Amino acid sequence: MSGQRSAQWYAGTDRNAYIHRAWMRRGLPANAFDGRPHIAIANSASDLTPCNSHLDELAQSVKQGVYAAGGIPLNLPVVSLGETQVRPTAMLWRNMAAMATEEMLRANPIDGVVLLGGCDKTIPALLMAAASVDLPAVVVPGGPMLTGTFRGVALGCGTDVWKLSEEVRAGTLSEEQFMRSESSMIRSRGHCNTMGTASTMALVTEALGMTLPGLAGTPAPDSRLLQGAHDAGRLAVELVAAERRPSGVLTRASFLNAIVALAAIGGSTNAVVHLLAVAGRLGVELTQDDFDRTGAEVPLLVDLQPAGRFLMDDLHRAGGLLAVLREVRDLLDPEALTVTGRPLVDYLDDAHIFDHEVIRVREQPLLPHAGIAVLHGNLAPSGAIIKPAAASPELLSHRGRAVVFDSIEDLHARIDDPDLDVDADSVLVLRGCGPRGYPGMPEVANLPLPAKLLRAGVRDMVRVCDGRMSGTAYGTVVLHVAPEAAAGGPLARVRTGDMIVLDVDARRLDVDVPPQEWEQRAPEPATVAAFAAPKRGWERLYVDTVRQADTGADLDFLIGASGDRVARESH
Ligand code: FES
Repeated sequence: MSGQRSAQWYAGTDRNAYIHRAWMRRGLPANAFDGRPHIAIANSASDLTPCNSHLDELAQSVKQGVYAAGGIPLNLPVVSLGETQVRPTAMLWRNMAAMATEEMLRANPIDGVVLLGGCDKTIPALLMAAASVDLPAVVVPGGPMLTGTFRGVALGCGTDVWKLSEEVRAGTLSEEQFMRSESSMIRSRGHCNTMGTASTMALVTEALGMTLPGLAGTPAPDSRLLQGAHDAGRLAVELVAAERRPSGVLTRASFLNAIVALAAIGGSTNAVVHLLAVAGRLGVELTQDDFDRTGAEVPLLVDLQPAGRFLMDDLHRAGGLLAVLREVRDLLDPEALTVTGRPLVDYLDDAHIFDHEVIRVREQPLLPHAGIAVLHGNLAPSGAIIKPAAASPELLSHRGRAVVFDSIEDLHARIDDPDLDVDADSVLVLRGCGPRGYPGMPEVANLPLPAKLLRAGVRDMVRVCDGRMSGTAYGTVVLHVAPEAAAGGPLARVRTGDMIVLDVDARRLDVDVPPQEWEQRAPEPATVAAFAAPKRGWERLYVDTVRQADTGADLDFLIGASGDRVARESH
């Protein structure tokens, strides 16, 4: 019997080892306990997470790969989060999924793990868990769905829901047509096919080095994904033999590479909180400002919705992430390793662009600077972010009168009121949507525009919110304002009529109120009334311990790596 972790359960002739082995012998041969690596397949398949419902098939390929390499594969269902299904928001449960997975990886007799995720929060939660336990791990992203069409035009799932529903509100699309589009939107298995959060996190995970290079972005129905899953199973066995752990892959260098990738692909703003949270689990020094410092000068090379034209299967056909990264190779840290043990940059020599419309060469970018801008100011002392590539250029420097909403319910009650005192220059402020306030930091920051302005042809306005924005959304949206209103942030003190000043070039977000008056202002009573602290369960633990967006919105007691040790024998 080797010195592997699972041997702590299975080795020996005492009663406990007998029990551990005996209960596992349901189809497993005796030599399953002779020192072979036991590989968990952390599988977030669920019928209630439609984007992940095909992961059981991928798990079968992983299993075959593990067996082929001499390991023992073990299916481990984990908490699954269907972005479109769970209430009040999947983000409330990300940390719970991460914590539950972390504990089950640590508690069980396993030596390594293959992580199967897809829908928005599932890969971040799995990465956070793997980082915390630091067992040898590799991610297999479930892949995007194929492109659907409606009225002969490609539909970007997510993005086109917003567009079509705004058309209905503006009166340019009938409800009947809108309903017809519903069955065209989701063409196949897989996650959203725009550059939303799921696509972003899959690609960014590859840039981090945590997938087999070249696998992320492979469409879910593509048989090459099954091959990749098989290979990942084989690799997991090798990872155990080589003792190659996430802490050796997820270094500051690899996070900075991921930020370069995030900018070059025009990825979702949600990657900021997820990457900060993963880094926090390992004690890797990474700040929100790193996203601006490292990503701001990176060119936008991928023309995908929501900001652009194409969809994920186009990106895969055009050469995928490695072809994108080859264009920005000089910005990547050559030392950052992947799970294969080789540096990420080693895989760029064979990468090629096969469609220059989808992936641009460095000399002809879609935008010269694509990164996420981090703003500071008296309205966001701990920072806020904006994705300039998804914003209207003319609004990136803007001064406007605040129209304040205290909660999402307040917004829904008043946004379409014909008497709402708002014009195209107004700045819509939505508070009460941060990690504590909602709770869970939902994707509401791209709040809908007032119907009367939509009818007048207005298509974008400056919006400011302490919540997040769907990766499939677009607009001039300042989000992740920290501290949030419910944590005593200055957003709670803004009143309708205050002048808000946004200056993205200067990286500023301020309210123009005389300093003395501003300092003396108390939080608006409505913001206090809107926040009702949960009394029990996960929500209570979450609200009591969640940190702010600028550090990844993780729970304060989960920061720092914990390792795989379990101090006591069971029973
Ligand atoms: Fe699952 Fe979009 S709803 S990825």
